[in-house]
Amino acid sequence: MASTLTQLHITLMQPTDLGEVLDLYEHYVLNSTCTAQTERYTPAQRADWLAVHHPDRYPVMVARAQAGGPVIGWASVSPWSPRQAYARTAEESVYVAPSHHGRGVGRAVLWALIEHVPRHTSIRVLVARIVHPNPASESLHRACGFRPVGLMRYCAEKFGQPLDVLLMDRHL
Ligand SMILES: CC(C)(COP(=O)(O)OP(=O)(O)OC[C@H]1O[C@@H](n2cnc3c(N)ncnc32)[C@H](O)[C@@H]1OP(=O)(O)O)[C@@H](O)C(=O)NCCC(=O)NCCS
Repeated sequence: MASTLTQLHITLMQPTDLGEVLDLYEHYVLNSTCTAQTERYTPAQRADWLAVHHPDRYPVMVARAQAGGPVIGWASVSPWSPRQAYARTAEESVYVAPSHHGRGVGRAVLWALIEHVPRHTSIRVLVARIVHPNPASESLHRACGFRPVGLMRYCAEKFGQPLDVLLMDRHL
């Protein structure tokens, strides 16, 4: 079994990281039910994603095994709802490159996000939508203080497969 990476380099995403971040994500878009997205981003959608994830509003943390190395994982907050009263709530996402699963990257980058967000934004509640079952993601979120809110049955379909979604939240 691969060992835990103890010397991770975790930073705020820079615009120059966008390609690596979304390439990593799109591996799961195309090959997994762990995200409900089914299509790759167009270049215009990539630019929009970057604009939404401005570090003052919806930051993204990226993990590298060493400074200057490739992005091996990332965690983000994104808008939960356009209705103004939900401004304190954001959707959280976390993705680790398949080659680095089970080595502590997800836990480290999600904790970095949990510590960063309340210090630098007005977000106070994180919500995770986890396509069920996803034992790795559910365990990771529980380990980082998320609690289950409820199970939405057959609210999605991907690769012709009906999907349930577990909602979890964490107050910051
Ligand atoms: C889910 C994911 C982000 C976890 O990241 P990771 O770096 O592999 O996880 P870590 O090594 O940091 O493990 C942290 C905790 O998660 C849990 N965990 C990780 N992998 C697990 C697995 N295969 N089964 C059960 N629990 C697991 C454990 O509680 C672990 O803590 P422990 O090491 O003290 O036992 C990663 O597997 C991934 O990117 N999966 C595909 C994308 C995805 O599902 N993203 C989430 C969408 S909601």
